[in-house]
Amino acid sequence: MRLYVNIDHVATVRQARLTDEPDPVRAAVLAELGGAEGVTVHLREDRRHIQDRDLRILSETVRTGLNLEVAAEDEVIGIACELQPMQVTLVPERREEITTEGGLNLAAEAPRRAVSAAVDRLRAAGIRVSLFVDPTDEAVDHAVELGVEAIELHTGEYANASDDEARQRQLTRLLSAARSGAESDLAIHAGHGLTYENVTPVAALPIIEELNIGHSIVSRSILVGIERAVREMRQLIRAAPDRVAEPGRWNPPVGF
Ligand code: PXP
Repeated sequence: MRLYVNIDHVATVRQARLTDEPDPVRAAVLAELGGAEGVTVHLREDRRHIQDRDLRILSETVRTGLNLEVAAEDEVIGIACELQPMQVTLVPERREEITTEGGLNLAAEAPRRAVSAAVDRLRAAGIRVSLFVDPTDEAVDHAVELGVEAIELHTGEYANASDDEARQRQLTRLLSAARSGAESDLAIHAGHGLTYENVTPVAALPIIEELNIGHSIVSRSILVGIERAVREMRQLIRAAPDRVAEPGRWNPPVGF
């Protein structure tokens, strides 16, 4: 399972003072040295954290893989086509939200058409496309119809589950969606809300091949440095029990 480190919140700290530090470009180098298999950034329409300059430099300097999250909007899709990141993950975006709130709404006609147009442009530019979706069979079916290479399953409901029973239910949903996606040859990623405390059961799921983790790693990096924070998350992912098939059969160990 690959760890992609989302460095948006390094830029959030910089934007709090509209200055030039900390620089997410430097953070990306250190995350890679700490063992990240890829770097993720979200270029939001309101540019609240990552700026165009960051993305331009990162697209030349990231040595692993750059995963660019964007909404299915003309302007940012144009930037993606020009800069050619290794992968684009399409996400829903609302200006008022604090963070991405859920998967793409592919059941409704208008957003599905916008996503479909974005997928066509990105694929024509030779870019691998992933769709951020809720872990439901319906969302997986829509992703298959849209002809993308991958889906990222939203782990937010798992992360927000208030007790063990609810967590197990969410793990079962994730596993079931992962299975149906894999049956249709989609690569399966997952992310959102994952932390040092809750990552292990997700890392132990079979089929999922990539985790996207941001806030928790950047938070820890303020205290211990980004290389160490990434290394500790890598260790937790590697130490997860070997891909247990049934999430209900074991008790998740407590994280670091
Ligand atoms: N995956 C997607 C699609 C996201 O939008 C985000 C947040 O930017 C993440 C993963 C990472 O979430 P977190 O910061 O909670 O780890």
